[in-house]
Amino acid sequence: MPDDSLRMPGSSMTYSTVTPEVLTELRAIVGPEYVLNDAESLALFGRDETEDLSFPPEVVVKPADALQIAALLRLASAKRIPVTPRGGGTGLSGGALPVYRGISLSLERLNRILEIDVKNLQAVMEPGVTTQKLQEEVEAKGLFYPPDPSSRGTCQMGGNLAECAGGPRAVKYGVTKDYVLGLEAVIPTGEIIVAGARVLKNVTGYNLTQLLIGSEGTLAVITKITVRLIPLPRLRKVVLVAFDTLENAVSAVAEIFQQGLTPSAMEFMEKAAVRAAEERQGKTFPNNTAEAQLLIEVDGNHEGSLDEDIQTIAGVVEKYGAVDILLADDRQKVEDVWALRRGIGEAVKSISAYKEEDTVVPRACLPQLVRGVKEICARHGLTSICYGHAGDGNVHVNILKNALGDAAWEENSAIAIRDIFRLTVSLGGTISGEHGIGYSQRPYLGIALTDAELDLMRRVKAAFDPSTILNPGKIFP
Ligand code: LAC
Ligand code: ZN
Repeated sequence: MPDDSLRMPGSSMTYSTVTPEVLTELRAIVGPEYVLNDAESLALFGRDETEDLSFPPEVVVKPADALQIAALLRLASAKRIPVTPRGGGTGLSGGALPVYRGISLSLERLNRILEIDVKNLQAVMEPGVTTQKLQEEVEAKGLFYPPDPSSRGTCQMGGNLAECAGGPRAVKYGVTKDYVLGLEAVIPTGEIIVAGARVLKNVTGYNLTQLLIGSEGTLAVITKITVRLIPLPRLRKVVLVAFDTLENAVSAVAEIFQQGLTPSAMEFMEKAAVRAAEERQGKTFPNNTAEAQLLIEVDGNHEGSLDEDIQTIAGVVEKYGAVDILLADDRQKVEDVWALRRGIGEAVKSISAYKEEDTVVPRACLPQLVRGVKEICARHGLTSICYGHAGDGNVHVNILKNALGDAAWEENSAIAIRDIFRLTVSLGGTISGEHGIGYSQRPYLGIALTDAELDLMRRVKAAFDPSTILNPGKIFP
């Protein structure tokens, strides 16, 4: 790698490499078996779920606790070695990719749920706990941790905080930031800090908890997390509504909320997304010939009130031209429908090289957004597959390369993405709802933020990380 590629962002200084002496020091900190630099590990930690990007680190380090992380960060700051924290590696904007090489810092050994506090409806855990594991353990006690990114089986809570993960249930229950009461983290200079407290109200200094959530591993390494929980709703019902145009499907969304109800999920997917998931999973979706579908879930504790909600929803969608409404009434059907929905992202990936955009607009603007996306893609000779969290106005736009040549693909997709993001911002939205800016969306951040705003963020970054070692090459254009 040419030296230039190791130049620090926004500086004439360069990073140091991981020398044999540094390896010896790392082994002394975490134990030799937790310092890996074999080709297979480097390749594995050089990738996440983002497109086909690959940036292998020089070494993978797997510490056991905050003290080891503090020692590692002190070493890295002193020697100016980049450190990229990594959770489950399921990110979709390249947040965990070690783009300046250096150390990939895996949090996988910090994987204990430390406490489920049923009296206060809270849970305390280490960052390497998978989201699904947390959910299952609290559900066994009648409690609920709602944020449910599609990757919940493998993504980790630390990564969920770093990217402020969302998921389908966000529409009723909110995203990761709405559940985190406090955390422990190590800042790049090696101090261990505690932010927040185990309380539901807290106005004690700046809210560092919320500053770290969504900071994409650029400000601190999260080592302990306290979340609030809520009672688990006893009942769930799912309806699938078929439409003969995508625009009709998304046009119905805002009115459902205006009728006074908040579904626990309100997803949409166009036909190509459904087909891709079917093919990948070898299952069939009801109404798979419909141009678009809404997957609407309602939850609560009273059968009668869920049935009423479904009646209200049926009334609205009929007005917007629904061609079929199907109640998934048994548990297996509900699970199948959700498995297909959760599998769309992975399925789309297998069709073609692609770029995934995470647009979000006020939900009543969805029809303008999807119409605009289709027009922009057509103008640049590109096809797109859209799906996502309609109730949140959060549309995952997957732009496919198909048979396009490499140069035309890079050029046309970059222009189309700019146009899509400009449209998104003009509608009062922004360029990432839940996947983050990370590495892949950096070139576009200036569409959403002004120079003054970016400068303020850079100064926050410098306050936490004066040596610019923590996850460099992310967020900032
Ligand atoms: C989903 C991921 C891609 O919604 O955010 O499936
Ligand atoms: Zn999503």
